[in-house]
Amino acid sequence: MTLEQAKQVAAYRAVDEFVTNNCIFGVGSGSTVVYAVQRLAERVDVENLKVTCVPTSFQAKQLIHKYNLTLGELDTHPNIDVTIDGADEVDSKMNLIKGGGGCLLQEKIIASCSKKLIVIADYTKDSVTLGDHYKKGIPVEVIPMAYVPIKNKITTLFGGDVKLRNAIAKAGPVVTDNGNFILDWLFPNNSFDWEEVNTIIKLIPGVVETGLFINMCHKAYFGQPEGTVSERC
Ligand code: A5P
Repeated sequence: MTLEQAKQVAAYRAVDEFVTNNCIFGVGSGSTVVYAVQRLAERVDVENLKVTCVPTSFQAKQLIHKYNLTLGELDTHPNIDVTIDGADEVDSKMNLIKGGGGCLLQEKIIASCSKKLIVIADYTKDSVTLGDHYKKGIPVEVIPMAYVPIKNKITTLFGGDVKLRNAIAKAGPVVTDNGNFILDWLFPNNSFDWEEVNTIIKLIPGVVETGLFINMCHKAYFGQPEGTVSERC
């Protein structure tokens, strides 16, 4: 089974277990969520479900349009029943690193408005401690004018290295859906108290949000190489 098939089985399982008629559904971002939206569209069609979809990014909104699903927004649907989203890494305590695709801010807002955040991922995202497998660090979304002082403050406080994320198809930095830059903090070891780290980084002026999702995830599904799905609560 390929990595893509592992993502798909996890996504299908989560949609089948958590999407119900008349629910308000948060649509995550990234490559794994594409399978969740495909499955949702199938179920809406076959079962005639009424589901309102609130996106976590421009990409998620495009997916909702592509599959002719009903688009909602926080202004009209501030209480989301369930959000299904991907993750870059999940540790044994259900701490997450998110934001590999640059959508962490809206993802965290939507997660914070959701009764349940369900993560879908392939088996490579399943770790005991953060950093075991994912080596690209913790994303931090920042106001552009402040990226150098924030970078310096994070390295002074915690060590490691901080890199401004650069775009691939353009010269210069990645600009998020909210017009901000992304710093990736390559943390020096995995012995941090992540809740404390998250709080301290968020207090640095100019930091908009971090990709550390602490005490937010209700359940995670990991698609396995042999086609099964493992779960963690
Ligand atoms: C988007 O910014 C991210 O938080 C994604 O949810 C995360 O990177 C997982 O993406 P994949 O499903 O593409 O691995």
